[in-house]
Amino acid sequence: MCGIVGYIGPRDAQEVLLSGLSKLEYRGYDSAGIAVGDGQQIAVRKKAGKLANLAADLEAEPLNGSFGIGHTRWATHGVPNDVNSHPHTTENGDIVLVHNGIIENYLELKAGLLQRGHVFKSDTDSEVVAHLIEETYQGDLEKAVRDALHQVRGAYALVVTHKDHRQIVAARTVSPLVMGVGEGEMFLASDVPALLAYTRQMVFIQDGDMVILDDDGYRITDMQGQPVQREAETIEWDAEAAEKGGYDTYMLKEIFEQPQALSNTLLGRLKGEEGRVELDISLDPTSFDRIHIVACGTAYYAGMVGKYLLEQLARVPVELDVASEYRYRQPLVTDKTLAIAVSQSGETIDTLEGMREAKAGGARTLGIINAKGSSMTRELDDTLYIHAGPEIGVASTKAYTSMVGAFLLLAVWLGQQRGTLSRDEVARLVQSAHDLPQLVAETLSDERLARVQEVAQKYHQARDYLFLGRGVNNPTAYEGALKLKEISYIHAEAYAAGEMKHGPIALIDEHLPVVVVATESRLLEKTISNVQEVRARGGRVILLLSDGDTDNAQHAEDVLYVPRCDELISPIVNAVPMQLLAYYTASTLGKDVDKPRNLAKSVTVE
Ligand code: F6R
Repeated sequence: MCGIVGYIGPRDAQEVLLSGLSKLEYRGYDSAGIAVGDGQQIAVRKKAGKLANLAADLEAEPLNGSFGIGHTRWATHGVPNDVNSHPHTTENGDIVLVHNGIIENYLELKAGLLQRGHVFKSDTDSEVVAHLIEETYQGDLEKAVRDALHQVRGAYALVVTHKDHRQIVAARTVSPLVMGVGEGEMFLASDVPALLAYTRQMVFIQDGDMVILDDDGYRITDMQGQPVQREAETIEWDAEAAEKGGYDTYMLKEIFEQPQALSNTLLGRLKGEEGRVELDISLDPTSFDRIHIVACGTAYYAGMVGKYLLEQLARVPVELDVASEYRYRQPLVTDKTLAIAVSQSGETIDTLEGMREAKAGGARTLGIINAKGSSMTRELDDTLYIHAGPEIGVASTKAYTSMVGAFLLLAVWLGQQRGTLSRDEVARLVQSAHDLPQLVAETLSDERLARVQEVAQKYHQARDYLFLGRGVNNPTAYEGALKLKEISYIHAEAYAAGEMKHGPIALIDEHLPVVVVATESRLLEKTISNVQEVRARGGRVILLLSDGDTDNAQHAEDVLYVPRCDELISPIVNAVPMQLLAYYTASTLGKDVDKPRNLAKSVTVE
């Protein structure tokens, strides 16, 4: 995360930058900073903590000038303090930049720069880019930024300026960047709401684009300097809709953010070229002989996939518990236990208490957590952040898929470190994980969405629903049922497909929609046998199948297709149509999907 802004025009830059940053604080508030230029010099002011700290400082002693850049930080490399705050500058202070993303090869680049005599002020990956630009700069800022970025691997939205140029140069790979076009003034930001007070004409900057802004307007090029055409769009959203990114609800916005959220989860951890996983945690991978996973609700279902992945890939025995049970059942914990908390908020009291229980028994603790700086992250030995970004819709969507993504990383990493996976197996899984954001983006195509909508409308009056799945997709059934019941208030149950005949089969009649996850897997034939059992009793089967599986489509009244993928990553891909089915059912029924009745986003009571 992190939010960035840029401005060039006739207005007071400090005011525009602070106004933009105030709309981006949801992207992080570890620190904030701005740099403002007046044509002769550029002054930087930055402060740890929320934007209000910086604003108070600037009110007492303003920065004057009519172009500049700004940043609000969600710390990744380097603790949140004044020095690690953005903007970062070169040693002589001539070049100033803000960055959102992660520079994956920064250590290697930094080592080279240190050898060549550069002196660093901060511990951030971003400062490395400022030094690279300084090295390549020979009077042409645009060229220097382009040359520097050719050496960089990773994700960035980068905004750079130089004291001698009334010019702003920006570039984007992965991290979002939008440009606002005003009358004789230009703006940049991570997100539309930051600019709406000034303009509604926006250009969405694409991956691999560079933008050059000055008083005459803007140019967009590719990374080779060739001109690129991007159309400006008029944004019609009101301020609230803008915060929802133009979607009707936060939940839908967050469903659509999943490719980006997953990229962020995987970023810097998948080492594609080396076919390895590297994790930013201090856990000794051989220091335990059992794992306890503790979580609630959707996070628990992510843990259910996690158990499957960890046992299969790392061959460590895993126990999985609902946190409210774990904390009171006197679990058998030893100093050879790794206890893993899974939580979006990092505040769920049962999960936190469960971890305290495990810690008291001598366990080492690890969090798979979204919210930076939350209670769990402060108490646990290690945190593997999922980096999904803020989740506002009460029903968890992108946090779920990112949690499962984090479990995949952890399981492959443990398999690699403990030697339960061969180099080839690790490389194959790294490749599968690498493809995930794209696969999830494919599940969100207009055609697939329209199909889920049709199915949701057809069955929206059902009183009950049954969800079935097997193996690594058994949790997908549970998560699908939870999503449906919490936002549409339709009763939904989930079962392991093979368990159905031991009871729930009695529920089946011609009114009961039964959603069966039947994507490609080694258990597909068995799942299809369970489908036949439902059909034989008049149940209405909605099958989730892999693209191209027309043979099995004949067993269903309705089919939803998902892109074909490795079975071990399929719970992430398959979660998306489940979320959409719940979403469209609830919206057809006119429910408030973002704030379902009786629920809270963060459950800090028992
Ligand atoms: C369901 C949902 C809840 C949460 C649960 C745990 O959509 O969001 O079931 O998953 O309350 O919350 P966290 O992950 O914050 O610990």
